[in-house]
Amino acid sequence: MLDTIQDVPVIPSADLETDPHSTLRRYRASHPFAALETGGYIVLGYDDVSRLARDPRLQATEVALPAQAGLSQGALFDIFAHGMLTANGQVHQDRRSPISRALVGEVAEQYRRHVRRSAHALIDRCFASGEMKLVGDYAAPLPALGLAGLLGVPKGELAPFLRDIDAMNAFFRPDATAATASSAEKAAVRVRSAIGLLIDYEGDDQAGGFLQHYVRLAETEPRHARVETLMQIVQLIIGGTESVRTAIVAQTANLLANPLQWRAVVENPERVPAAVAEAMRFEPGIAGLVRLSAEDIAIEGRTLPAGQLVVLSLMSALRDERIFDRPDTFDIFRLNPGPSHLGFGGGAHQCVADALGRAALQEALSVLAERLPHLRLAQPPVFSGHVFVRGSTECRVTW
Ligand code: HEM
Repeated sequence: MLDTIQDVPVIPSADLETDPHSTLRRYRASHPFAALETGGYIVLGYDDVSRLARDPRLQATEVALPAQAGLSQGALFDIFAHGMLTANGQVHQDRRSPISRALVGEVAEQYRRHVRRSAHALIDRCFASGEMKLVGDYAAPLPALGLAGLLGVPKGELAPFLRDIDAMNAFFRPDATAATASSAEKAAVRVRSAIGLLIDYEGDDQAGGFLQHYVRLAETEPRHARVETLMQIVQLIIGGTESVRTAIVAQTANLLANPLQWRAVVENPERVPAAVAEAMRFEPGIAGLVRLSAEDIAIEGRTLPAGQLVVLSLMSALRDERIFDRPDTFDIFRLNPGPSHLGFGGGAHQCVADALGRAALQEALSVLAERLPHLRLAQPPVFSGHVFVRGSTECRVTW
C-alpha cells in the first residue's frame, strides 16, 4: 500500500475502523486533507469543511455511488436518481423546496409529540424487565415511529412499515454487503408503494396533514414527476431514521459513561438541549458530507484533484482543537460550546429537517431521564463508519 500520494498521506482503513478519532486527530495535526485507502480524499479541519460544504466545485454525487455498486435501475437506484441529497443546482432546489416549505410551522411540534408518545410506549414495553437493548428496543424504532406518526401510517400497518424501513436502510450502513443490497431493494419497493398508498388515501384524518400539504406543494410549478414526489419522502425517511438512531445511542451512552452529567440532566431537564448539542459534536450521527470534486481545489498549498470522491469529515471537524476547547472531552457544561451545528451539515444540502432532528434527540433523552433516572450502562456500544451514515453495535442498559 502507498503511504503517500503526491505528498498527501494515505490513511489506512484499519486505523479508521479501530480508532477513528485518534486517527483523524493524528492526520489533522499535520495535513488539511488526506487520501483514503479505499479511494478518494478526506478533508479534516473545521474551517475547510465549513467552507467547502458551500463550494460549488464540490458537487453532490448524483448516481455515481449506485453506479459504483453496479446499480443502474430499481427502487434503490431511484433514491439517488430522483432524491434531493444527491442532486445539484436548480434540480436540487426544486426537489428541496416543497419539503422545506411543508416542514415549517406546527410540523416540528407535531413530530415532537409523536416521538414523545412513542418513547413512553417503547419504555412501557420493557419497564418491568429492568433492562433494554438501547438500539433494538429504543433508538432504532423511535425515529421511525415519529415519522410514521407524521406521515399518518395506520396503526395496523406500523410493524411491516418499520421492518421495511430497517431493511431498506441497511443498504446505506457502513457494514452493507451484496446480500443486504438485494433485501434492501425489495424493502425499498415496499416502502415506496406504502408511501404511494398514503399519498393517494383521501381520508379526513389526512386532509390537513404534513404529507398532503407536501404533495400539494410538489404539484405546483415546477411540478414534480410522481417518482420525484415519492423519493423526497423516501429520503426524508432515510435521513430521519439512520442518523437519529446512532445519535440517540451516542448521547445516551456518553451521558451514562459520565454519571455526574447524566445526573445533572435527570435533575435539571433544562440541560437536555446542551447535552444533545455536545453529544452531536462528540459523536455525530453522520460522519461526513460526500461529494465529487468537479475541479482541482487548492488547500494550503496542496491540490485536491478533480474527479475524486471527497469526504468533508464532520467527525474530524467537530473535534478540531483550533475551534473547540478540550475537543476529546465529553462535557455538557461547556461555557463556550462552539459551533456544533455543523453536525447537521452546511451549504445547500444542510439538513432540511434539523428542527425535527433536534426534537427527536431531545425527546429521546428527556423521556429516558424522566422514566429511568437510575439508568446504567451494562454493555457500551462500539461505533462504526467514517464516511457517511454511522452505525453502532447493540448497547445494553439496565435500571
Ligand atoms: C440526529 C439527527 C440528524 C442529523 C445528525 C442529520 C444530519 C444531516 C446532514 C449532515 C445532512 C447533510 C448531508 C450532506 O450534505 O451530504 C443532512 C441532510 C438531510 N437530512 Fe438530516 N440529520 C438529522 C435528522 C434528520 C431528520 C429527522 C430528517 C427527516 C425527517 C432528515 C432528513 C434529511 C434530508 C432529506 C437531507 C438532505 C437535504 C438536501 O439534500 O437538501 N434529517 N442531515
